[in-house]
This record gives sequence, structure tokens and C-alpha cells, in this order.
Amino acid sequence: MKKIILSGDRPTGRLHVGHYVGSLKRRVELQNSGTFDKIYIMIADAQALTDNASNPEKIRQNIIEVALDYLSIGLDPEKCTIFIQSQIPELCELSFYYMNLVTVSRLQRNPTVKTEIQMRNFETSIPVGFFTYPISQASDITAFKATTVPAGEDQEPMLEQTREIVRRFNATYGEVLVEPEILLPDNSACLRLPGTDGKAKMSKSLGNCIYLSDDAEEVRKRIMTMFTDPGHLRVEDPGKIEGNTVFTYLDAFCRPEHFAAYLPDYPNLDELKAHYRRGGLGDVKVKKFLNSVLQEELEPIRARRKEFEQDIPEIYRILKRGCEAAREVAASTLSDVRKAMRIDYFDDAELIAGQAESFKKKG
Ligand code: TRP
Repeated sequence: MKKIILSGDRPTGRLHVGHYVGSLKRRVELQNSGTFDKIYIMIADAQALTDNASNPEKIRQNIIEVALDYLSIGLDPEKCTIFIQSQIPELCELSFYYMNLVTVSRLQRNPTVKTEIQMRNFETSIPVGFFTYPISQASDITAFKATTVPAGEDQEPMLEQTREIVRRFNATYGEVLVEPEILLPDNSACLRLPGTDGKAKMSKSLGNCIYLSDDAEEVRKRIMTMFTDPGHLRVEDPGKIEGNTVFTYLDAFCRPEHFAAYLPDYPNLDELKAHYRRGGLGDVKVKKFLNSVLQEELEPIRARRKEFEQDIPEIYRILKRGCEAAREVAASTLSDVRKAMRIDYFDDAELIAGQAESFKKKG
């Protein structure tokens, strides 16, 4: 069986380092590993509209930001297909059929959707489109017969829902769809990178994000004001590592060679943590180290973004080509789906001949 990746992001803003360690970095590694037959990267504008119906301009403006982020981290349109969800109408058609295979109570149990409903204060006024977006996500994945979805932990319920739809579809209509699996980050700090204020979720409205496109000074400021251990008041005090955002970020980003380059007094992260726990190590020193580590990672991304920003029309041409390629694949899956569901009436000579025969007999 072919190995196929599909993943994507809602274009509600620029992408941040949480997206980067949670999924983006992995996608680039997988792209460059050459072990996948196809890679589809989708800008999920239609999904973003499910809770931004009254603000389509925000989504429209952010498509280019996400595309620039993709290209600047090293996703290469020669090696992967980058496309925009709303330009593939086949995805809607698939969703319409999948909706018959899912119950309302099953959707209500989705923990990610539950949390999102709370975060948005929807309470009883949940848009139907938002409520059903896990079904639309199953269409995104299955339209491309994806086997692998590199994504963060919060996407696991969507994958579970997708696998259920696939099993239900295949059992009812015949083996057409492929069951995908999620590919989570293997480093636990990357599973859910906290905001710079220590809060669980990075979000624009909380102002606790580090964006891939932030300039060096913005990144430095965010790090220098990062949440640490509130009990660690004086340098001599023993400090806590658990829940200390600076150390969580170091867990996610730092490699042994960073010590030789920026903090040669310590051989590795374990020794740095041990010193912090014992007391005698100040927050500023650790933050400066994190700043060096993060700037090293982000600087080439920023530099590439600046280049891509010079030719925006070309980015739209890349996206258009991606949409055309993606649409062909989705249309081919849809044709299999229609055939399996036997709603391909005009291609069904047997149906037409059989009915012609039986009506003739009736006279
Ligand atoms: N839900 C994803 C997000 O919030 C975006 C998305 C839409 C997606 N369809 C997908 C991710 C399919 C992986 C696979 O960013």
C-alpha cells in the first residue's frame, strides 16, 4: 500500500512555535526522508470558517501567512502538494455522505470539540458546521487515502472519528477508504507546548505565542518575560522544573551541541536542571540560553520568509497548482465512493438495462 501523508492548519493567524514542534517540523523531516509516496498539506480555510462565519476577511488574509510559514520552514512544492481546502468541492460531497454514518451523540463525545465549544462560549448556539467539522476532517483525510497524519495530540479524536467512518463506510459499501493513523511528536514537551505565560494553550488572544515570523527582538522579549517558577525568587533558592515554561521549551528545542556553543559550563540539559533544582542558577541565565537556542532555529526560517515575501503572486501560483493537483486526486476518490454507493447511475449500464427489461415485461 502507498504511504500518503495529509495534514493541515486553520488559517486563523500566523503559525507559532507550538505548531512547529507539534507537527510542522515533522512534516519537513518526513518530506525530506523520501519514504512517502505523496504528501498533501492543506490550508483548512473552510474549517476555519466554521467558527469565523462573520469574519471571512480574517481567513482570507491569513491564507498567505500560513503559505509563507509553510514555505519558510522548508515545505517544498516540488515534493509536496500544498492546497486550499475550500477549492476542493469534492470534500463537501464526501462529508454529505459521511454525515449519514455518524450520530449526533458520537459527535457530542469528541473531547477536542467539547473544549473548543467551551473556549468559544458557544454554549447552546453552536454552529452546525462547527459541530460537524470532525466529519469534514474525515473527508480531508480520506479523499487523499492518507495513511499518516502528522499532528498534535488534540487531533487524535478527529483521527478516531475518521477511522470509525472508514470502517463503517467500507463495511456498508465495500473496501474503498483507507484507515489513517496519527503521527504524534515523540518528544513529550512537543505534544503540547505551553504559551509563554505557562498557560496550556498558545493563543493569539492571550498574547502568549512566539510566532515563526516574529523578529529576533520580539522573540527575545517573549523569552525574557516567560513564566518560570514563581517560588524561585533569589538565585540561591532551589527551583522547580515541572511546569517551568523555560525548561519545557528547552526540552522541546535544545540539543546537546547547543551547550558546547552557548553554555559550555554544562554538558547537557540534565546537569542544567540539576543545578536549577539545587539552587544557585538564575532564571536570566537559563532564559538567555533558551534565546540562543530558539534564535538559531528561527533565524533561517525568518530569512527564507523574507525571500518568499518578495514574490507573493508566485505563492498564489504555487497554491493554485496545488489545488489543481489535489482536486484530481479527490475527484478520483469520489468516483470510487459513488461507485461503491451505487449512485453512479449514468455509468451503471446494468441498472438501466435491468430496469428497461422489467418495465417492458410489465407491459
Ligand atoms: N483541525 C486542524 C487544525 O485545527 C486542521 C485540519 C483540518 C487538519 N483538516 C485536517 C489537520 C486534516 C490534519 C488532517 O489545525
